This record gives sequence, structure tokens and C-alpha cells, in this order.
Amino acid sequence: MKICQSIDEIRQALRETRQGLKVGFVPTMGALHEGHLSLVERCKEQCELCVVSIYVNPAQFGPSEDLDKYPRNLEKDLELLSQKGVDLIFFPDNAQMYPQGYRTWIEVEELSEKLCGASRPGHFRGVATVVLKLCNIVRPELMFMGLKDFQQIVVLERMLQDLNSETRIVRCAIIREEDGLALSSRNAYLNPDERLRARALNQALKTAQKRVASGLRSSAELIREAEESVLAAGGRIDYIRIVDSDSLEDAAEVDENSRMLMAVFFGNTRLIDNCSLIT
Ligand code: PAJ
Repeated sequence: MKICQSIDEIRQALRETRQGLKVGFVPTMGALHEGHLSLVERCKEQCELCVVSIYVNPAQFGPSEDLDKYPRNLEKDLELLSQKGVDLIFFPDNAQMYPQGYRTWIEVEELSEKLCGASRPGHFRGVATVVLKLCNIVRPELMFMGLKDFQQIVVLERMLQDLNSETRIVRCAIIREEDGLALSSRNAYLNPDERLRARALNQALKTAQKRVASGLRSSAELIREAEESVLAAGGRIDYIRIVDSDSLEDAAEVDENSRMLMAVFFGNTRLIDNCSLIT
């Protein structure tokens, strides 16, 4: 009889007896684009079984947000995923995910309240809860997530670590349009004029990277410049910040661990983007 006193030990022991396939998981809300599909590709490269979920999670939308009009296109999504060779799709309904009497929520303190969490109260509570539920259902070894939603990754990594999950997140690169706009299901809301002006987000990030490369380290100055160019493009700024990548606390001076993050409205559409500043 083997007696395991540490979490690592018991897990190792279980792994040895389970001998299963390596399961990779890509959680999505559907309306799939090349950004989502790039996660599937990474998953297929690194895992033997690729599971994708499509679920527009009502718990992460605020009362005045776009839950009802969030783009849905199941047929096309399934076609794209089958072309990519996905093994399993999980497509639950609300009654299964949040049955009557549902009472349990995951709060990742502090990290959830900053940045996007400040303007979308309860958003990360909904994200953390659904992702933990999905992980409990799929039990993947690796979960593939896009750096486009940087705060989401930080919140979920914290949650998985704090709750001793065996699932690890693989951080995947941001896929962009030719003019630099990060792909997003919400880009479909932009009218042609807003779509053109939305280039300013990525341009501001690239300018900040160049300014840092040429020696500027003051976050206040870098943020001021980024705000100026985004405003000039007609964007309405929710936030533009430079933060430490782990704590998400504001960084006064840029260092290797700093990231610039922004959320900007074009018309009624809220777009986000981010990048590291020293590459
Ligand atoms: P959704 O917005 O559908 O995004 C699913 C995954 O695709 C996330 O990991 C997101 O970061 C990634 N993604 C989106 N656009 C991307 C891009 N341009 N390049 C690379 N990756 C990109 O994020 C969610 O859904 C939900 O919050 C979810 C985690 C599924 C929980 O409901």
C-alpha cells in the first residue's frame, strides 16, 4: 500500500495508474475566428485529445451588456472545428450549467477587481466559475487560452493554483488582422468607420514598445502618449494602464515584467488589447 502525504505525490500516483491520453481543452463562447482556431492548433500539437467547449456563459455578462446579441453561429463553428480535427465538442445549455438551486461562485480576490473587472463588476466571478466547472467536467491537463484576454489568464492561473487544480494554462499569442486589430467576436459590431479607427489600439501599443526600446521608462509619459493617439482616432478610453504582469498593480516605471493594457470604446463596442513592453 502506498501512502502519499503530499499533493504532488498523490497526483503522481494517480497519474501512474490512470495511463490516459493527454487531454487539451479550448474553452470558447463560439462565433469562432482565427484567434480561437489558433488555440485549437496549439492544442492539437501538444495533446492527444482535443476538446473544445462552446458556451455563451450568462454569468460573465453584466445586466446592460451584450448577452442577447452576442454573435452565435453554431453550424459554422462546428464546421470549422471539424476541419481542424477536434475530437470532442462540449456544447451545454444553461439548464445544465446553472440548474435550479445553483449557489456556488468563485471569487479570485483583487485580481478580478482591477482593469476590466472595475468596469465589468462580476465579470471575472462569472468567468472563473464557468472555467472551473468546465475544467471539472473535462479534466484537461492543458487549457489553451489567448493572451488577448490577458487579465483573464492571470485570474484563471491564480484560481487554478489556489485551488490545487492539475490543469495548466498554455498562454497563446494574439492573432491579429492585417492592420493590427486583434481578432475578436465583438469586432463584428463595428461599422466600417469604427473598424478603420480601431487600428489605433494596436498602433498605440506598438508606438509604446518603440518608445521603450529607445529608452523611455516613465509609465505616465507612455500612457499619456497612448491616450492622445487613441483619443485622436475617436476612441473613448475605458482604461490605458501599464501594470506588473503578475500582480496587475500599476508600474510607475517600465521593466521586463511590465505590460500595457487597454480597453477602448469605438461607438458602443468595447475593444481590448495589450502587449509586453520589453520584448
Ligand atoms: P472567447 O471570447 O470566445 O475566447 C475564447 C478564447 O479565445 C480565449 O482564451 C481568448 O483569449 C481567445 N482569443 C480570443 N481572441 C483571440 C485572438 N485574437 N488571438 C488569440 N486568442 C484569442 O474568453 C472567453 O471566450 C470566455 O471568457 C471563456 C474563457 C470561454 C469563459 O466563458
